[in-house]
Amino acid sequence: MTTIGIIGTGHVGSNLAKAAVAHGYDVVISNSSGPGSLSDLVSELGTRATAGTAEQAAAAADFAIVAIPITTVGQVPVEPLAGKVVIATINYFPKRDGHIADIDNGTTTAPGVLQEHLPASKVVRAFSMIDAADMSGDGHPKGDPKRRALALAGDDAEARQLVAGLYDQFGFDAVDLGPLAESWRVDPGQRAFVTHQNLAELRANVASAKRG
Ligand SMILES: NC(=O)c1ccc[n+]([C@@H]2O[C@H](COP(=O)([O-])OP(=O)(O)OC[C@H]3O[C@@H](n4cnc5c(N)ncnc54)[C@H](OP(=O)(O)O)[C@@H]3O)[C@@H](O)[C@H]2O)c1
Repeated sequence: MTTIGIIGTGHVGSNLAKAAVAHGYDVVISNSSGPGSLSDLVSELGTRATAGTAEQAAAAADFAIVAIPITTVGQVPVEPLAGKVVIATINYFPKRDGHIADIDNGTTTAPGVLQEHLPASKVVRAFSMIDAADMSGDGHPKGDPKRRALALAGDDAEARQLVAGLYDQFGFDAVDLGPLAESWRVDPGQRAFVTHQNLAELRANVASAKRG
């Protein structure tokens, strides 16, 4: 049995937890308010779900999902995630999050901020360019005309493969952007951000992306 440790159980974390249990994963979910605040969500998710602290979710994880604001990345537990694949859904909106100079000047990216905080983990940007509700509600089998494509980026090829497999299980085609440094191609403001697109459309959208 594979356990996904989920850090952040707002719009994104709760929908990815739903998709995960629906596809046979165990999940340990966590937020900043503590496991006691998650009893309703655990009941809704069923027997595959338990709540813990972020440390416990990280420690239990075969791989992890970090779905929190970029402003709290510094609180993500480091040691229990060492060596593990960590999916970053994090986006950066300067108006909402405040300015981060290294993203503004192109030195790093939103998921790059998490990778810098977790140097021994394999961070992959994924699920950052789709509405939270659609993560659990708009997956479709391969070949279905309604099937959407999502992009992923990360510096570790095996980690990217794991995430491509997860996309497939959850009902999405995958476009692999390569290293994390390429992940700006699906940033807010880019054509690929939060739109219905199939494989060919997403490939075209990321190819035509322009750094602002
Ligand atoms: N909403 C979308 O449709 C969407 C789509 C794609 C990507 N994203 C991105 O994904 C991230 C999460 O978005 P969201 O809409 O799910 O946000 P949200 O609804 O505001 O939820 C944020 C979650 O993070 C938790 N949290 C904050 N700091 C934490 C920490 N240090 N440790 C553990 N948990 C922590 C919060 O816990 P408490 O509630 O206990 O404070 C809450 O459960 C953001 O970066 C967002 O830009 C959002």
